[in-house]
Amino acid sequence: MAQTGNKEPETKQPEKKLINLLRGWPSPHLLPSEILRRAADKVLSDPAVFVPALQYGPDPGYEPLREALAVWLSAAYGVKPDVRELCITGGASQNIACVLQSYTDPVYTLAVWAVTPCYFLACPIFEDAGFGERLRGLPEDEEEVDVEFLERALQECEEKEGREEKPYKHPTPHRKLYRHIIYLVPTCANPSGKTLPLARRTALVHLARRHNALIIADDVYDLLQWPTTTTTTPSSSQAEIPPLPRLSDIDIPLGPSPHDPPARHFGHAVSNGSFSKLLGPGVRTGWAHGTPDFAYGLAQTGSTRSGGAPSQLTAAIVTQVVVDGGLDGHLRERVRPALQARHTRVVEAVKRELGWAGVRVVESSEGGRGVFGGYFVWVTLPEGGPTAAEVAERARAEELIVAPGGMFEVGMGDGGRFERNLRLCFSWEEEEVVVEGVERLGTVLRRWYQGTVAVGEKWENAEGHK
Ligand SMILES: Cc1ncc(COP(=O)(O)O)c(C=O)c1O
Repeated sequence: MAQTGNKEPETKQPEKKLINLLRGWPSPHLLPSEILRRAADKVLSDPAVFVPALQYGPDPGYEPLREALAVWLSAAYGVKPDVRELCITGGASQNIACVLQSYTDPVYTLAVWAVTPCYFLACPIFEDAGFGERLRGLPEDEEEVDVEFLERALQECEEKEGREEKPYKHPTPHRKLYRHIIYLVPTCANPSGKTLPLARRTALVHLARRHNALIIADDVYDLLQWPTTTTTTPSSSQAEIPPLPRLSDIDIPLGPSPHDPPARHFGHAVSNGSFSKLLGPGVRTGWAHGTPDFAYGLAQTGSTRSGGAPSQLTAAIVTQVVVDGGLDGHLRERVRPALQARHTRVVEAVKRELGWAGVRVVESSEGGRGVFGGYFVWVTLPEGGPTAAEVAERARAEELIVAPGGMFEVGMGDGGRFERNLRLCFSWEEEEVVVEGVERLGTVLRRWYQGTVAVGEKWENAEGHK
């Protein structure tokens, strides 16, 4: 149709691509398909390997993986290898369910104490095990768990609810029941990024030993740490960051506690490891590290005994990747440098695009150590501006998904409210896209503050948001 006036023909705006900074997955570019294909070829070409790999396996897991992991983890954490301390799992989430099945009781176990803000998908696992009403949040301070607060809370809970009731379950000699569960991500926490310092780790273990508590340490980010630098072009040869001792490494050498049955040593901490963040979540394979009695008892979980440890075939493939150095190479050359570069860019972008509004971002996991790790940054919006839920809602109009802090609250919010926090994941979207996501957040905030006035320390907005 002929144009009549001076009006420009309407051009369709290119559709904005959706940016997802909520999804906590590794980027498709970081999946080691070639490494896994070679390992799978090897496994499936040799009957000596594929026959046991395709059959039911032993309860504690595919033995060659336990052996390879014992060596690999001993190098990573600087401890003596001991196969008996390891049990192969179907990943961290599945293993939390098995730990609860084997080591808690609906009557005897008083509460699950979850450090908050909490990895939100752990909560339904506790609810499924019957702890929905007894899931208690533990507030984080700047060094993650406030151990003194926890001690007071455990004491109060025992005084109020700790009648010596007969447990509902009758554990076999291979298992025991704990009075409390303490759940945390001690290194590069999801979502806050914080790391529990060594002194606090030791204090927490001693506290668990006094109160017959089991610490479930979700150690899925331990081997994904890097130095924080100001450069945006990190090199793959940068020194690797040795992880702090696991809570289980601190607990095991202390020997049995007064809560252990005679001649048994179950310990008070289990490290929950996973290949999900190291290779890919679809691998669905992980490991638990605890005392030999604990690892064996975990392997006696009913669903494990029927068929042996989960992920038998994948465990055989992962064994090749660990033994031939493919895993180390992948982490050193691809995963850590990529995450480090993304983290550097996201921090720069938050400061540049959101700093004017007073938004703050956690840059280092543990005060002064100059280290960060994991998949997420935790940002804090200033008081008086929009809440995180409002920002997240408005971000949707900009084709941006972010996680508001409320997602990470526990139960009735007794571990704290996070109305001013957002979690931004930098592992899923590509580096440039993560930066664009932060720029879109900047647009959301600028729009919100347009037409607002500063009143003392606060902003007052025409729409009534204060
Ligand atoms: C703290 C934490 N634990 C567990 C998981 C899930 O681990 P898996 O895939 O091994 O079940 C995640 C994934 O985001 C996580 O962040």
